[in-house]
Amino acid sequence: MTVDKAIIEQAQEKASELRASAEYRENIDFWHQAWNMCTKPYTRMPDLEYLPWIPERLHAAAASRVLDLGCGSGWLSVYLSREGFKVTGIDVAGHALELGKQWAAMEDLQIQFDAGDLGDLPYPDGSFDAVVANSIIEHLPLSLALVAVAKLKTVLALGGTFVGCFDKVGTGPGQYYKLDDGTQIYTDKSRKGMMLRYFSDNELKDLFNGWTIEELKTLDSGSRFVVAHT
Ligand SMILES: C[S@@+](CC[C@H](N)C(=O)[O-])C[C@H]1O[C@@H](n2cnc3c(N)ncnc32)[C@H](O)[C@@H]1O
Repeated sequence: MTVDKAIIEQAQEKASELRASAEYRENIDFWHQAWNMCTKPYTRMPDLEYLPWIPERLHAAAASRVLDLGCGSGWLSVYLSREGFKVTGIDVAGHALELGKQWAAMEDLQIQFDAGDLGDLPYPDGSFDAVVANSIIEHLPLSLALVAVAKLKTVLALGGTFVGCFDKVGTGPGQYYKLDDGTQIYTDKSRKGMMLRYFSDNELKDLFNGWTIEELKTLDSGSRFVVAHT
């Protein structure tokens, strides 16, 4: 048994327990409620230094079919669709996806928006050439993140590519308690139930154990930009 298989098998049991837990349900409820308050998609592209790097890396990998994980109302899906990629966005919040569909329709872009949980991706093997993940995997506890990233390997075609950014997660203001793995569960009113955790560089390497990590770059903001291949 290879090392990554052993890590994933251990994580799988924990991940199933977590997904069935009240904490996880509250976390998912948080995202539904947060998106239900939005009446329009955020149609302004964020000012991120790494934004142009994403299509660059995807083009370098000759990717065409791209999955946008935790796409929200779809800014990255739209950005990549404008660049000519065939994009599918997935998010747990149905209302966010409705907003994304409205935006895509306004620009006449063909983007597939699917409802689903990252812990249980509903795609057959080899469905995509690349996966993009901006500010999303850090919202999963460690075991779920390990299982989700392992599953990414299967939904990607051979030689598929991951391009993502893990936000800096600091100890800034906010009220939360922590799970054993360091996942913060917020208790303050505005983020009640939201899960967020800091992944150390070593944990990021564990997540991508068995992949080839091409880049693991710490940005000025402290966030980490990752490019990896299956
Ligand atoms: C911090 S937002 C990032 C959204 C977008 N990727 C961006 O960069 O603006 C996290 C997104 O992930 C979604 N999300 C959170 N947990 C999820 C899960 N377990 N499965 C699928 N989507 C999830 C939320 O609904 C939200 O849209």
